[in-house]
Amino acid sequence: MLTKKLGALTVTAAIPVLIISFFLAQIDIQRYNIGAAIDILTKKPLPKEVPNPPSSKEFLVRLSPVVDKATFTEEDVTRTIKKAVKNVLTGYKNDEYFEFNSYLGPNFVSAYYVVQKYLQHKDTEFDPHTKLDEKVLYKLLSTTQYPDGSWANVVDGSVNFGDIDTTVYNYWALKVMGEPLDSPMMTNARRFILSKGGLRHTNCLSRYWQTFFGNIKWSENIYIPLFVFGDSILSRLLNFQGRVAQWVYPHVLPITYSTYFKVQKDMGSRFDLYELLPENAGKSWDDPLFAERPAKIEDISQKGEPEEAVVKILMRMFDIQQPMGSFGAYTVSTLFGIIAYDDFMHRFPESKYIPEIKERIKKGYEYIEMMYFDNEAEYMGNLCNGRSWETILSSIALVEAGYEGAEVVKAANYLAKKQRKNGGIPYGVDFEYASDFDDTAEAVILWSAFKGNKDLEKRVDHANQLLFEIQNKDGGFAAFDHEKQGFKPIEFVTAAFSDAAEIWDPSCADVTGHVLEGFGESGLNYTHPIVKRGIEYLINTQKPSGGWEGRWGNNYIYSFGAVIPALKKVGYDLNQPWIRKAVSWVLQHQNLDGGFGESPLSYKSEKWCGVGISTPSQTAWALLGLLEIKRADIMDVGDSVEKAIQFLINEMDREGKWEDKSVVGTGHRGFLMMVYLTYPYSWPLIAMSRYQRYFGEKEIDLKNAEVFDDLPTNILEKITATAESVKPSNP
Ligand SMILES: *[C@@H]1O[C@H](CO)[C@@H](O)[C@H](O)[C@H]1NC(C)=O
Repeated sequence: MLTKKLGALTVTAAIPVLIISFFLAQIDIQRYNIGAAIDILTKKPLPKEVPNPPSSKEFLVRLSPVVDKATFTEEDVTRTIKKAVKNVLTGYKNDEYFEFNSYLGPNFVSAYYVVQKYLQHKDTEFDPHTKLDEKVLYKLLSTTQYPDGSWANVVDGSVNFGDIDTTVYNYWALKVMGEPLDSPMMTNARRFILSKGGLRHTNCLSRYWQTFFGNIKWSENIYIPLFVFGDSILSRLLNFQGRVAQWVYPHVLPITYSTYFKVQKDMGSRFDLYELLPENAGKSWDDPLFAERPAKIEDISQKGEPEEAVVKILMRMFDIQQPMGSFGAYTVSTLFGIIAYDDFMHRFPESKYIPEIKERIKKGYEYIEMMYFDNEAEYMGNLCNGRSWETILSSIALVEAGYEGAEVVKAANYLAKKQRKNGGIPYGVDFEYASDFDDTAEAVILWSAFKGNKDLEKRVDHANQLLFEIQNKDGGFAAFDHEKQGFKPIEFVTAAFSDAAEIWDPSCADVTGHVLEGFGESGLNYTHPIVKRGIEYLINTQKPSGGWEGRWGNNYIYSFGAVIPALKKVGYDLNQPWIRKAVSWVLQHQNLDGGFGESPLSYKSEKWCGVGISTPSQTAWALLGLLEIKRADIMDVGDSVEKAIQFLINEMDREGKWEDKSVVGTGHRGFLMMVYLTYPYSWPLIAMSRYQRYFGEKEIDLKNAEVFDDLPTNILEKITATAESVKPSNP
């Protein structure tokens, strides 16, 4: 009896043990440093203290004058719109699209500079013949350091300090260039880095770069086992690639290869950063640790082909590499890819894959060189290209302003050519593999202006079909994917990456707003079930303050500018307490110069929400919402609209163009901000044109603008007529 029971118990207990062992057996456990893994996963980051914004609003007035009362005339508005139209047109390229480029910081070029030395491809068949001029980079770095020794990837105009990661990249590049370590620039940078905890307290992507050079040990970094990208049952169940946000996989894949082989080279003392580890901070420069040492490159070559799991990773890298050479359209992932290819080439020189790898390395370099040095954002770290996005926003701005040139029509047709089989629009070049739903929604808005154009109407329907399908369960919409909002079984691993990148692609108010606005423009209203669920999502995610966090723009002001016009477009009654609450929130944050601004610190501390120096883009976003509220007359917004318009006029008069003096684009919330050169050209023009249409005393008259040749009276008729004559090709 008893033995029988025990037997049954053993069998019952054995099943889960067997299952667990089966799964564990698939993990290349012998390579896994469990101690280090636990250490990394439990590592508490140093508290990142966020300074308080100054209590007085005066500090936010930088360049534009204080506006007590708006004094502009109708003529000022018209003049400003004309000038803005002219400025947008400077971005028209190749007679088919608009492009102004974007960037995330010169520190990415610093990293590229150092990694090029690591790869040692100069004067070989892979020589990228780089356009990177050391002197230019040096000048850029030496003139952008903050007084505390730090660098920032992009400018937050409300503060005067940077961050540890950017500072490490730039310090490293300068050291490799030969900058004396005891120069004030290096001494201050070092002091800043050590005050933030030193090299190990940089984020995981920064640490990977250091690991290739031996400055951080592989055991101190996150280990990703090869099986994650294999085809075992466990790999398929976890389905890492299918769970995470679109941008994660192209980066993690080549890193997985490198972690497996612990890819590393001793490049000599000039590449060392031992002085940035706290334990070495007190040591004198005479210490043997800092002694000069030449590079010592080991022979890692093996006979034959690698094991199957490695070949699988290689095949996946081939798959993710896009036609223009990028790993998923990003430069950083491409550079990780080149390192992995380069290692493979040296490790398995007899492999049959070598000829193909060689070609792929060359293509990868071409892409990086093009992004970093072949555009308006040269040396600024243009990580990927957003040509569709820039084309759409520029065109919408021109349409709103009543511009009737053929550029808009050609741009709409360019976008038609870019529409994918699933109905989506990719963000920019080499992104054809991934539809961007924000772009798709904004394309719907643009194409909807071409009323009566059968082809574009079909494309709007097709795009909307896709957008219907990708609504998340919570009713919101995300940027690239349907329901990739988290997956518990892999979160214990992905958490370790979360200091460098967002891992998920969650629903957000800004994309949801744009999608709803597109639906509204194409004829749907708030009674449609999908629109209804979208509105419920917005109601459910409103913060107690009254705002919504911005995912792709900075920050609550961006969402405000997306949500209110969307609700208006779908015919929703704006006279609701929750909307009045959002409006009250934004009204509290108007600056003394009439503009609006919000520091990226708003992602780290509520104290900064809605607080920051005024920028034309953020002023435009606030205006886009306020204009609808004022027009519908649902609550008293005082003279906030006029003051904001005055700010835009003052800025244009002062500089001849709109320019954001503080970053307004968000790559990854809280740690990676992005400058979109196109934003201050397009968003304020949209806002100002709407102001003119809603409240102007007379219809805007652009007849005297030098940029226009012939002017029929009805913009839409003209556009539609021209569009009919320029049939876009099929997708
Ligand atoms: C909303 O759309 C539905 C379906 O097209 C239509 O029947 C209804 O009249 C619309 N409501 C409003 C207020 O426009």
